[in-house]
Amino acid sequence: MGNLIILGSQWGDEGKGKIVDLFSDRFDIVARYQGGHNAGHTVFIGEKKFVLKLIPSGILRPGKKAVIGNGLVIDPAALLSEIETLESVGVQVAGNLAISNRAHVLFPAHRMLEKMSEGRPGRVSLGTTSRGIGPCYEDKIARRGIRVADLLDTDFFRAQYDSVMEEKIAIAKTFDIFQEMDFHRIRDEYEAFAERIRPMVCDTAWLLNQAIRAGKTVLFEGAQGTMLDVDHGTYPFVTSSSASAGGACTGTGVPPTRIDGVVGVSKAYVTRVGAGPFPTEALDGAGELIRKRGNEFGAVTGRPRRCGWFDVPLLRYTAAINGFESIVVTKLDVLDEFDRIPVCVGYRHDKQDLAEMPPTVRAIEKVDPVYECLPGWNQSTFGVSSYAELPAKAKDYLAFLEDRTGVEIGCISTGPERNQTILKPGSRLERLIA
Ligand code: IMP
Repeated sequence: MGNLIILGSQWGDEGKGKIVDLFSDRFDIVARYQGGHNAGHTVFIGEKKFVLKLIPSGILRPGKKAVIGNGLVIDPAALLSEIETLESVGVQVAGNLAISNRAHVLFPAHRMLEKMSEGRPGRVSLGTTSRGIGPCYEDKIARRGIRVADLLDTDFFRAQYDSVMEEKIAIAKTFDIFQEMDFHRIRDEYEAFAERIRPMVCDTAWLLNQAIRAGKTVLFEGAQGTMLDVDHGTYPFVTSSSASAGGACTGTGVPPTRIDGVVGVSKAYVTRVGAGPFPTEALDGAGELIRKRGNEFGAVTGRPRRCGWFDVPLLRYTAAINGFESIVVTKLDVLDEFDRIPVCVGYRHDKQDLAEMPPTVRAIEKVDPVYECLPGWNQSTFGVSSYAELPAKAKDYLAFLEDRTGVEIGCISTGPERNQTILKPGSRLERLIA
C-alpha cells in the first residue's frame, strides 16, 4: 500500500467525507490540498454527525495525523471554531493537526470583495458559497496574499495587513460594494488567532516528505470535485483551486513520484450546487425525488442541490484528467424507488457525437445528452454491506456504468454509516488500500 489521492469526480458533494473517513484507518496521515471552508464533508459516526470544512476527516481517527496543506486558504475564525467543536465532543486535535506555514489566510475583506463577482449588475453570478474563497485565491495568484507564516510574523503582518486592506478598501469604494468594518479590530483578532494556531503550524511539505521517507502512508483528500477545478471544470462556474488530482502535488509539496494511486468518488447520479451547466439535470419530478431521498441540500450553505442522472461522458472525462484506477459509487440506495433509471451515455450536438468535453459553458449548454434507460430494482439497498446481497438489477446498473465508463467500481456506499459500504472483493481498490 502507498499514498493515495481520493477526490470527487463530479461537481462536489459526492460523499468523499465518508469514504476518506472509512479508508483513513489504513493510512498514517490524511492531507487536504486545496479549497477552504467552502467544502463541507459530512461524516456520521454512530449518532454523531460531523461537518468538517477545513480539517481533514482523518482527525476523527485517534492517533492519525491530519494535515492542512499549502494549497488551502484558511479563515482562522472558521478553523478555530471547527477545532473547538471537535474538542468539545472529545476529538483530540492538538498534536494531531498540522497546518502549513505556506497556506494563505482569508480575511473578512475577501467576503466583501466577493460581491464584485456575485452581486454587481452586468456580472453573471456564479452562485459561490460567499466565503471569500475566490478573492483570497486572487490575492495568492496576484502575489499580494498573506500566508500563515506572515500572520505569525507579528511586525511584518501589521504592516502587510494595513497595506493590503488599504487596497481592498479603495477597490470596494470604487465599485460601490464597501461595507463598514473595523479593520483594526480585525487585525488584533487575527493576531490573537495567530497565537492560538502557532503550535500547529509547520512546514507540512517537509513533514509529509519525511513521513513518506520513513515508510508512512498518506491519504490525500480532495475537496469540491473535478468539474469545479479552476482549469478542468466548467469554467467560470468553478471554484478557484485545483480540485483535480494534480492539485494534490502542488497543494502539499509531495512530488508526483510519491503518489501510488488515484481513486474517484461519484454518486450513483449527479448533483450540482450553484449556477453553471449541468447536461443531465432532471428538472422534473424525478430530480425532486432524488433531492428528497438523497437529502440533497448543501452541507455548508443549506442550498438545495440540483439533481440529475449519471453522466458517462463526464465520468470518462474526469477519469482521464485524474487517472482514476477505481471509483467509489455512493448513495446507490437513493435510486431504490425508480422504475426506470436513465443514464447519459453520450453527448451530441448538431447530430454529431461529441468525443470530447466541450471547453465552454456555451457549448456544454447546447449539448444533447443521449440516454439509455435501465430497469430499476424497486427494492431497498439501504445499508447493504455485501455485494452478493445487492438486487440483480442494481448489480446490472453498476456493471453498465463500469462497462461504459471503462473504470472499475471498487466500492459502493449504501448509507451514511461506516458499515453501510461494500468493498468489492478482488478489486483494484481493495489492493490499493490493503
Ligand atoms: P466558491 O468555492 O465559494 O468560490 O464557489 C464556486 C462554486 O463552487 C459554486 O458553484 C459553489 O456552489 C461550488 N462549491 C464550492 N465548494 C463546494 C463544495 O464543497 N461542494 C459543492 N459545491 C461547491
